[in-house]
Amino acid sequence: MCGIVGYVGSEQVAPILLDGLSKLEYRGYDSAGVAVYSPQHHGLVVEKAKGRLQVLSDMLHGGADLDGTVGIGHTRWATHGAPSDVNSHPQVSRSGKIAVVHNGIIENYAELKQFLEEQGVPFTSETDTEVVAQLIAYFYESEQVDILDAVGRVLRRIEGAYALGILCADAPDQLIAVRKDSPLILGYGDGCNFLASDVTAIIRHTREVSYMDDGEVAVLTREGIRCYNHLMQPIEKEICHVDWEVDAAEKGGYEHFMFKEIMEQPEALRRCIFPRVRDGQVYFEDFGLSDDYLRSISKIYIVACGSSYHVGMVGKYHLERLTRKPVEVALASEFRYMDPIVDESTLVVVISQSGETLDTMAALREAKRLGAKILSIVNVVGSSIARESDVVLYTWAGPEIAVATTKGYSTQLAVVNLLALYLGKLLGTLGEQEYHAILEEMLRLPEKMDQVLTHVNEIQYLASQYFNHDSVFFIGRNVDYALGLEGSLKLKEISYIHSEAYASGELKHGTISLIEDGTLVVALGTYHKLFEKAMSNVVEVKARGADVLALTTEGRREEMAKNATAVLTIPDAHDLMLPSLGVVPLQLFAYYVALMRGCDIDKPRNLAKSVTVE
Ligand code: G6P
Repeated sequence: MCGIVGYVGSEQVAPILLDGLSKLEYRGYDSAGVAVYSPQHHGLVVEKAKGRLQVLSDMLHGGADLDGTVGIGHTRWATHGAPSDVNSHPQVSRSGKIAVVHNGIIENYAELKQFLEEQGVPFTSETDTEVVAQLIAYFYESEQVDILDAVGRVLRRIEGAYALGILCADAPDQLIAVRKDSPLILGYGDGCNFLASDVTAIIRHTREVSYMDDGEVAVLTREGIRCYNHLMQPIEKEICHVDWEVDAAEKGGYEHFMFKEIMEQPEALRRCIFPRVRDGQVYFEDFGLSDDYLRSISKIYIVACGSSYHVGMVGKYHLERLTRKPVEVALASEFRYMDPIVDESTLVVVISQSGETLDTMAALREAKRLGAKILSIVNVVGSSIARESDVVLYTWAGPEIAVATTKGYSTQLAVVNLLALYLGKLLGTLGEQEYHAILEEMLRLPEKMDQVLTHVNEIQYLASQYFNHDSVFFIGRNVDYALGLEGSLKLKEISYIHSEAYASGELKHGTISLIEDGTLVVALGTYHKLFEKAMSNVVEVKARGADVLALTTEGRREEMAKNATAVLTIPDAHDLMLPSLGVVPLQLFAYYVALMRGCDIDKPRNLAKSVTVE
């Protein structure tokens, strides 16, 4: 959701900005733009275009048309004002001297706009961001202060969430970066420096980065980066080294990031699980929660959005089973407004791939305010959620670029399972034998997932049979229901087919009236204990004309085939591993259906990878 990149150095900036923006495309956007200081024109040149980045890039001949070595670029996901050339960023002040790129929402923009209009400042766009550009210019020009001072005055007046990149024509050797509640990182190069929404945009140029904290301001020049806290006092930032390979964020010969990331899951699981098992025990490095505290917790509350919430749904079953503590799962967007029953004895588990989802962040802060301890399960190192948590368990999935998460989900679930084992053992609610049996199975999980991935052709064939359905239902019970939620989301988000997931027992309370000849029902029957019940539901929907695509374990294939139209299988495994294995055929099914429908798989319409607005 909105991507920012900025560069100050000695190379031509436009190609660097366009390349950086291309790495941020995955975040979701509908228009793009750049602003460059042009020595030839002694001022800023701003170019913007609605639509894909390619439109802008073609317009600028890959950036060759713009001369200059300092600039900012942006991919916009529209909030205030429809996607259009004029609403795209950078937004520029009336004088043309100040250009601003912004990720977030300025909540009090209307009153500031009114104030500026009363001072005779005309507005050209419908965006909240233009207010920032015009207000900086207002202080800068009417009060004759320097640009950093003018930015400081604006920051005291704007409310909301913002990551800002600011370029001023009168200070053409510097960029200003500001962060509050929207991600922004600084990159340290040799004779050049960068700002960006995330590491992928600049990893080609530098691996030395620092993560801006809320309220911080940075001034980037060729020589270095000066940082200030919210009181504009100089501060030193810790510089971190990013150690993943550049090609981790490239397609590497695959047609889509989503497919690449599905195939990477066994490896991601190895990275996530293996270092956390030592001498036959689950081991968490830097685990800052004491045994006494963990024994004292009265309940666990999981909060998350989207697929991370679905991990929480599976996690509830697993954590309750192994710890016998009550586990509640809430959508982060609901949690903060539901007056949640949370106190010092509640462990709040926050799950987020990006670590930047605004609702999840807000839920975390609310839980903290209520006295809970926060344990987060996060993929992006140094992200806001990671930094505000008491304990972070990183998923180590590597960069995930496709909007629809796959390896993010699998590794989150693996961490939840490790946590359930760890707590179960500590609390004495899990017997030694079962503890070791599950742990053994966790170590075998990547290998079993490799086996699931050998079924690609079979799944592709089934997708070809069903890709033209208009409506699909996923049904299952218990963990299979939670799995269905994820399978259904995956399908709808990338193929645009209407799809819903139901707990099978609920079918008779309404949904079954929608089943008619040829309706596709994906019946999930992996959970051994409830296999017979799953089978009854298959028979029920089949009797009403549904085509049933069933998913079960190898050992149950024959039995399931007696009633289902088609059967997919996963290897036989311990109950706790079934959702981890079961999600893979559902991801692949969604992928191939979307492919056959000609959808934009990695960047589905209207969606963003990290949702940084409420
Ligand atoms: C977006 C993404 C989903 C993701 C959700 C939560 O909607 O498209 O794939 O599950 O946000 O994101 P998070 O980064 O907090 O896990």
